Amino acid sequence: MERTLTILKPDCVRKQLIGAVIDKIERAGFRVVAMKKTRLTTETAGEFYAVHRERPFFGELVEFMSSGPCVPMILEKENAVADFRTLIGATDPAQADEGTIRQLYADSKGENIIHGSDSAENAAIEASFFFSLEETVRVN
Ligand code: RTP
Ligand code: MG
Repeated sequence: MERTLTILKPDCVRKQLIGAVIDKIERAGFRVVAMKKTRLTTETAGEFYAVHRERPFFGELVEFMSSGPCVPMILEKENAVADFRTLIGATDPAQADEGTIRQLYADSKGENIIHGSDSAENAAIEASFFFSLEETVRVN
């Protein structure tokens, strides 16, 4: 079993797609281990995406991620990290495969509905960013 960390981004919440996206996730075999609705500040969004600090889109990304509530979740499945990246599709929805979450629901490369961890190591770091240890061990 492997875990990954996802965030339903503020555009997903604004478009009232929380349920539709979680439905896709559960139908793909992922178990929701932990979930909450919260709101990042520009500071915490910048911390979460610190790896992109030098990128030209960083300011826009931080503005967007702090623009409204989001829904982080810890998901569990065999091969969760890679399989979840496949399920969400390419960063730019215009490049995303047919039937992927971003292809179905996202408007642009910047506002692309959903985040997925890029490694198991980062998934653990990102999970601890949003959830206490107690929340992560209370598995269904
Ligand atoms: P994420 O981390 O959110 O799962 O997305 P990703 O791995 O597919 O893409 P990444 O390169 O990590 O970029 C993080 C987020 O930054 C925004 N972005 N905007 N305007 C742009 O050119 C651009 N490039 C990236 C997106 O919100 C992307 O998901
Ligand atoms: Mg990324």
